[in-house]
Amino acid sequence: MADKFDVVVIGSGPGGYVAAIRAAQLGMSVACVEAQELGGVCNNWGCIPTKALLESAKYARKVGGLKDFGIQVGDVTLDLGQAGKRAGKVATSGAKGVAYLFKKNGIETVYGWARLDGNGKVDVEPGKVPGHGEGKAPDAKKRTLEAKHIVIATGSRPRSLPILKIDGDRVWSSDQAVFPEKAPETLAVIGAGAVGMEFADVYDSFGTKVTVIEALDRVLPSEDPEASAVVAKSYRKRGIDVLEGARLEKADVGKDGVTLTVKDADGKQQELKVERVLVAVGRAPIIDDLGLEAAGVKTEKGFIVTDEKMRTSADGIYAIGDVTKAPLLAHKASHEGVAAAEHIAGDEHAGIDYGNIPYVTYCHPEVASCGLTEEKAKEAGHDVQVGTFPFSASGRARTAGETEGFVKIVRDKKYGELLGATIVGPSASELIGEFIVGRHLETTVEEMDRAMHPHPTLSESIAEAALAALGHAIHI
Ligand code: NAI
Repeated sequence: MADKFDVVVIGSGPGGYVAAIRAAQLGMSVACVEAQELGGVCNNWGCIPTKALLESAKYARKVGGLKDFGIQVGDVTLDLGQAGKRAGKVATSGAKGVAYLFKKNGIETVYGWARLDGNGKVDVEPGKVPGHGEGKAPDAKKRTLEAKHIVIATGSRPRSLPILKIDGDRVWSSDQAVFPEKAPETLAVIGAGAVGMEFADVYDSFGTKVTVIEALDRVLPSEDPEASAVVAKSYRKRGIDVLEGARLEKADVGKDGVTLTVKDADGKQQELKVERVLVAVGRAPIIDDLGLEAAGVKTEKGFIVTDEKMRTSADGIYAIGDVTKAPLLAHKASHEGVAAAEHIAGDEHAGIDYGNIPYVTYCHPEVASCGLTEEKAKEAGHDVQVGTFPFSASGRARTAGETEGFVKIVRDKKYGELLGATIVGPSASELIGEFIVGRHLETTVEEMDRAMHPHPTLSESIAEAALAALGHAIHI
């Protein structure tokens, strides 16, 4: 097989595999090097299996309340181990899907660990994995690939804490939490970002007593404070202990569990003994042992430095996804992958709009947002008008028995620009797409309302929030 390619992509996550496919579509010969299963963290340990678990969690949570819907269910047994197995099967089918797409597009898959040798070549060797999950590449062999262009898409791995090292047993990262054998009696979740809040939802739904410990003053700290408040209230109502503004001072890992010493927001110290701990305090880019220095690829604060065309400091070498810069999101990585491939193919206009990235946390209630929050819009000097429509006033939400949350629109008073939106509640992850398209097409808030939404749907809440921003909502 030829060892010379127009493009060699390192990593087959949602950044890498999309870059490889787009490059192949544009007529280039492409190889993709992968140290583990195809599909990366997103498909194998992240987005996809966690969403499968959250789907199980939804049923686990709802089953007790079905009587009200006219459905009588007998004895219910919750089995998180089975939910984990199903999540694994969903991931496996996704990895096969990537293999199929590679074959269809004539992309060569090269298994093993890739290292840049500094002369436009990529050395591949077997036996090394980036440090997440258990999976190893099936048939890695020693090889050297020659590439006109290289795209680094090596992704990220979970961060540990200096006082609490992830050991995969008592102290988990998301890699262990996603394929549990069974639900522990008790679980402490350190960090209330997307990972922490999604797993807190899953484990609570399967009967684990969950405590969430967040250092900042609220859960989901990068979202609108009103969204954080709704989710924290909902979690507490379910029986999840949510400690905001809390400091983890000490952790003792023993044979039977972990004892955590936590200082709460009022400065009071408490001791918490739990069976397992999930550390969800962010992810770190994978830049070690890739030969970056030899190849002249500059890094800063652990990330590979890139320009707006995804180019690194080294000629012909691009980098995309988690390894470059925040936000560490699959869809941002995919779009960067397309942009890198198109730029390699000669499109000088290739690039992505970092101002219009959707953010979604798939916990219950779901949270989704884009653009500027009310707070950030004011800080940026906008004269802001805000419209909020609560799901409790939505007919469709009431039929589903899902009335927590709201749609909130942030409008610029001068030109009616749709500056941003936040949704908390049912199908927030799907509804945010309307705002993303609206903002991409530079729509005004007026137009969001004038476009006729079907009744009864959750999407009507978007039109109503638009009306609320204009001061004349019909249903509130
Ligand atoms: P994150 O950075 O989003 O959240 C980590 C949280 O931990 C922060 O709220 C931080 O204040 C808190 N924290 C840090 N140190 C702490 C300490 N010592 N004690 C208590 N709290 C502490 O990171 P997360 O949730 O681990 O996610 C990692 C990456 O993966 C993020 O970039 C996220 O966007 C992405 N991701 C996205 C998902 C989605 O889009 N649904 C799902 C899962 C992950």
